[in-house]
Amino acid sequence: MNKIARLEVDNQTYELPVVEGTEGDKAIDVSRLLSQSGYTTLDSSYANTASCISSIAYIDGDKGILRYRGIDIAELCEKSTFMEVSYLLIYGKLPNSAEFARFKERVHHHSLIHEDMKSFFTSYPGHAHPMAILSAMVCSLSVYHPELLEPNQSPAQRDQTITRLLSKVRVLAAFAYKRSVGEAFVYTRPELDYISNFMHMLFTTPMKQYVPDEKIRKALDVLFIIHADHEQNCSTSTVRMVGSSKANLFASLAAGICALWGPLHGGANQAVIEMLEEIHADGDNYKKYIDKAKDKNDPFKLMGFGHRVYRNYDPRATIIKRYCDDVLNHLGIHDPILDIAKELEHAALTDPYFIERKLYPNVDFYSGIIYRAMKIPTKMFTVMFALGRLPGWIAHWKEMVEDPGMRIARPRQVYNGEVGQAYKPIDQRL
Ligand code: CMC
Repeated sequence: MNKIARLEVDNQTYELPVVEGTEGDKAIDVSRLLSQSGYTTLDSSYANTASCISSIAYIDGDKGILRYRGIDIAELCEKSTFMEVSYLLIYGKLPNSAEFARFKERVHHHSLIHEDMKSFFTSYPGHAHPMAILSAMVCSLSVYHPELLEPNQSPAQRDQTITRLLSKVRVLAAFAYKRSVGEAFVYTRPELDYISNFMHMLFTTPMKQYVPDEKIRKALDVLFIIHADHEQNCSTSTVRMVGSSKANLFASLAAGICALWGPLHGGANQAVIEMLEEIHADGDNYKKYIDKAKDKNDPFKLMGFGHRVYRNYDPRATIIKRYCDDVLNHLGIHDPILDIAKELEHAALTDPYFIERKLYPNVDFYSGIIYRAMKIPTKMFTVMFALGRLPGWIAHWKEMVEDPGMRIARPRQVYNGEVGQAYKPIDQRL
C-alpha cells in the first residue's frame, strides 16, 4: 500500500504521497503542496531536498557506500575501466563487447578539435586558470556543431553530442594545460587508450615522447572512475538546472565546470595542496591548523575534510589513499606533504571536534598528492576532477532530457525584503 504523510497547518490536514527508492530512501512529495495549501517548503542550500528521481548513482552517507548503477565503487575500481564506467553511467548498463568496441571507436573518432580553436587558447594570458579556459572552450566548441544544438535531439544526435564531448573535452583540457606551460599542443595517437592518450597530450613535447607507465595509467583511470559521478552534487545539479531550460549539452557542461571550480566543491583538491604547502612552509605545525579549523572566529577550514552527505569515511578517499601510497612508492618519491596529510588526518580523526561532527577526509584530501607525484601542476587538479566527472554530468543530463515529465527547474523563495515601497526621486533620497 502506498504510504501517505500528513501535514497539519492552519487546522487543515494535507495528505502528501511518500516516494520510496529502490534502496529504501524515503521522500515526502511536496510538489502539489503549494497549490493545495498555499505553503511552500523552505530548505536553504537544499540540505534535505531531493530534486529528482534518478537511477544513476546511490550514496549511503552513514555507511560510506557509493554505487554506480548498483555496482560498488571499489569493485568498479578493481575490475573496470573509466571508459566502461562512462558507458555504464550514460547508457545504464555494462556494455557487451560489440557495444563497447563501437563506443570506444566513436570516442576515438572524435578526438580532434577544429584547428581554428587553437587560436582561442593562445589568446589567453599564460597565467590563466585552466578551469576558466576549459569552461569557455566547452561552450565555444558548440559553435562548430550547430547541428547538435537542437533542443529536441533524436537519440542518434544525442549519442553524437555525447561521444564528441567525452572525447573533445579531454583534448581541450590537455590544450589548456599546454597553454599554461607555454608548450606546443599535442594530438592524440590512435594506438593509445583514452587515459594514456590524455597523458600523452599533457606530457609529450617536441623533445620527448611520453612513454605510458601502466601503474600511473591505472592510478589515473581509478581516479577518473572515483570522480565519475556523485549524484546531485553542486556541479551535477547545475548541469541539470541549466539543461532543464533545454539549453544544449555544451552549455550545460560549461556551467557544471564553473560550479565545480569552487573550493568547497572540486576546487578543494587545489586548496588542499595549497593548505598542505602552507603548513609545510610554517614548519609542519599541523596542530596549529587543527586549532584554526576548530576556531569559530577563524574562517579557516580543513580543506579536503567534511562532506554534506558522508557522515562516515568517504569510500573514495579510502581507495585514493591506497593509490597515493602505491604511486609515490612506484615513482620513488618521498613527499613531505603526504606526511603532513597523514598527521593531519590522524589528529583530526582523534579530535572530539571532528568526531562529534562526523568529519572525515573526502575525495579531495589525497587526490592532489597523486596528481603532484604525476607532475600535474596544482592549477590543473580541478580540471582533472572535471574530466573524471564528465560522464556523470552527461548521464544526468541525458536522464533528465529523456524523462517525458521533465519541467524547467525553478525553485521558490521566501521573500523578506521591503514591502510596498514607493519610488523616491533622487533629490529626495538621504
Ligand atoms: N573544517 C572545519 N570544520 C568543518 C569542516 C572543515 N573542513 N567541514 C565542516 N565543518 C564543521 C562546520 O563548521 C559545522 O560546524 P558547526 O556545526 O559547529 O557549525 C559542521 O562541521 C557541519 O558542517 P556544515 O558546514 O554543515 O557542512 P556542509 O554540508 O554545509 O558543507 C563541505 C560540506 C564539504 C562544504 C564542508 O565540509 C567544507 O567546507 N569542507 C572543506 C571543503 C572541501 O573539502 N570540499 C570538498 C567536498 S568533497 C568533493 C565534492 O564532492 O565536492
